[in-house]
Amino acid sequence: MYIFHTISGLRAWRKTAGIVALVPTMGNLHEGHLALVREARRRSDAVVVSIFVNRLQFGQGEDFDRYPRTLQEDTDKLHGEGVAAVFAPDEHELYPHVSQDYNIEPPHLQNELCGRVRPGHFRGVATVVAKLFNIVQPDIACFGKKDYQQLAIIRGMAADLNFNIEIVPVDTGRADDGLALSSRNAYLSESEREKAPQLYAALSRIAEQIQMGSRDYVRLETDAADTLHRNGWQVDYVEIRHADTLTVAHVGDADLVVLAAARLGKTRLIDNIEIHLDKKTI
Ligand code: PAF
Repeated sequence: MYIFHTISGLRAWRKTAGIVALVPTMGNLHEGHLALVREARRRSDAVVVSIFVNRLQFGQGEDFDRYPRTLQEDTDKLHGEGVAAVFAPDEHELYPHVSQDYNIEPPHLQNELCGRVRPGHFRGVATVVAKLFNIVQPDIACFGKKDYQQLAIIRGMAADLNFNIEIVPVDTGRADDGLALSSRNAYLSESEREKAPQLYAALSRIAEQIQMGSRDYVRLETDAADTLHRNGWQVDYVEIRHADTLTVAHVGDADLVVLAAARLGKTRLIDNIEIHLDKKTI
């Protein structure tokens, strides 16, 4: 497995690599990332995993400085997964002028859902992903559905800017109790970790009620947020949206996604669940 720290090294190798699948990450890899890698392997000749903690997508007071940097452990895991190359640039390699003058500005969706409390986050994500796409020139790129809004924005960017890259969504990896795998789970105390599956349980209850015919989406959202709140969560949002466009869901939409973000103590968790209704029974 090659480990490249420079753009020129990665580019020279890429020319001979055949069908390449990219898995962009910020490192601190867990089973959820490895599921992305396995999907990428199934679809390509060579998998590139990028590892870069992207300052541009962290707001003030967020965890950029304490975000775990675990390159050695990460590369050990990737080696076992048959990854062809790791791209792990330092900040100067990706942002040589310190600031990035030209950025990707996603549409209004960047200010909704997670964007409401993380201004500039999706601009930072879209910008670094566009850079990675241009550097690696992959045929395929795999993204987890756990970051559903990120996935929607990257899909939109790739389509509108004509990146010749297939964006592959990969299902969320979960612990046995339902908690979505995330690097930030490591910040949870023991008692917070016990409570954490309540988020997915709240989403699952909404999904069940919708499947059983409930269509009062505002009430379902409010009830779920209230339940979480009563259990000690600070809720940023629980929202039912159209699965493809992430516009507000209307009765009659068949493909829905319920998204939520909430904090336990200092740790902010996000999760979502897709619902596909039978068109005949909507
Ligand atoms: O999902 C992530 O880990 C990051 O947002 C990404 C896509 C690697 C961009 O920094």
